[in-house]
Amino acid sequence: MNIKLVEITEGKVKLKVPDIMFYSGERLEPAWAPIFYNPRMRTVRDIDVAVVEAYSSFNNRNAITVCEPLSATGVRGLRYAAEVSTVEKVVINDRASKAYMLERENAELNRLLGKVEIYNREARALLLELAEKGVKFDVVDIDPFGTPAPFIEAALLALKHRGMLCVTATDLAPLFGAKTEACKRKYFAIPLQTEFSKEVGARIILGFVARQAAKLGFGMHPLFTALVGHALRLSVLVERSRSKARKSLNLIGLVRYCRKCFYRDLAEGLLLRSEECPRCGAKMSVGGPLWVGPIWDPEFCRLAYEHYEEREYLSSKGLKTMRTVLLESRGPPLYTTVTVIAKLTGSGDEPSVEKVIEKVAEVGKYATLTHFDSKGIRCDLQPLDLTELLK
Ligand SMILES: C[S@@+](CC[C@H](N)C(=O)[O-])C[C@H]1O[C@@H](n2cnc3c(N)ncnc32)[C@H](O)[C@@H]1O
Ligand SMILES: [Zn+2]
Repeated sequence: MNIKLVEITEGKVKLKVPDIMFYSGERLEPAWAPIFYNPRMRTVRDIDVAVVEAYSSFNNRNAITVCEPLSATGVRGLRYAAEVSTVEKVVINDRASKAYMLERENAELNRLLGKVEIYNREARALLLELAEKGVKFDVVDIDPFGTPAPFIEAALLALKHRGMLCVTATDLAPLFGAKTEACKRKYFAIPLQTEFSKEVGARIILGFVARQAAKLGFGMHPLFTALVGHALRLSVLVERSRSKARKSLNLIGLVRYCRKCFYRDLAEGLLLRSEECPRCGAKMSVGGPLWVGPIWDPEFCRLAYEHYEEREYLSSKGLKTMRTVLLESRGPPLYTTVTVIAKLTGSGDEPSVEKVIEKVAEVGKYATLTHFDSKGIRCDLQPLDLTELLK
């Protein structure tokens, strides 16, 4: 292959990857290399090793199959094969023939050819063809450039009953509200620029997946959600059941946000009750449709945290994210930030997150950190109530 490669180690696998230094200009840009490999995404893959292992424990499945149909160097799928104790078979694939050839080389390098099957196909065509032949997977992992939206339907069809769909989205500008039209086009949803936009982005994808699943007669139950660097990762359990599909559709709704007093809420259903803020009467902004149910399963998050912690070779950055996710997994939706609190109090100084959490705990309410934002607080109280408490 006429590509400048270097050999590296990530997790428990050795890999040949394009030499990013050779292919970059003034800044390091993995997308300029002939095959994609981003070393900065290692933490996400560390987390996903633990998430796939947790799926096995959560679902009591001891020999699982995984399909990662947008695999580039093969790193993600090879890591599942090498590092998740219950993985029996992994299918990796890439439409680009150079990537396919490198996937082969990397599977050989790790002596994984017995466990790993490799294809050189269009991802959706492969998923649908395998599903049609009756080859369905416990886990399908969609890790594309930008939006996962075009791949969701084929991925859902290639899942077994109670399989896990994992998706990455890196199109954060549309999802976080900086490009509303692009968000409408890709996800049929209106995002909101707020202090909790990142959670709204995650909920927009979950809502999109739930609707795609429902039309096929499948229900969706979120297991694990995390924003790691520039990647939003979502893992959901998919059940082939019309009653479950109806239940998850009931958890599609709208978000309302008051830009004057920062009141916010989520409500089931697509009929807007009122645009008037119940606290101050100002006209509120509305976003969605999106997922208004929980975005984590706390028991799943505990398992994933334990599987991460027991692997000492994984990054400490990932462990910190897992710990915060575990803390917030039982918390209420729509965090706020100390910046918003300072705006409301009119004081130039932001209180410390720890101080706010302590004050809330003193009155017996729930408050915790959020991994979405280092200045964030996930809490039962509205921002106006928080400022009262801090007086
Ligand atoms: C973001 S990269 C994958 C990164 C990889 N999963 C990792 O963890 O490093 C996306 C890959 O999908 C491939 N790709 C894009 N569209 C595709 C399609 N429709 N079918 C199959 N492969 C596709 C690209 O060639 C590229 O290698
Ligand atoms: Zn208000």
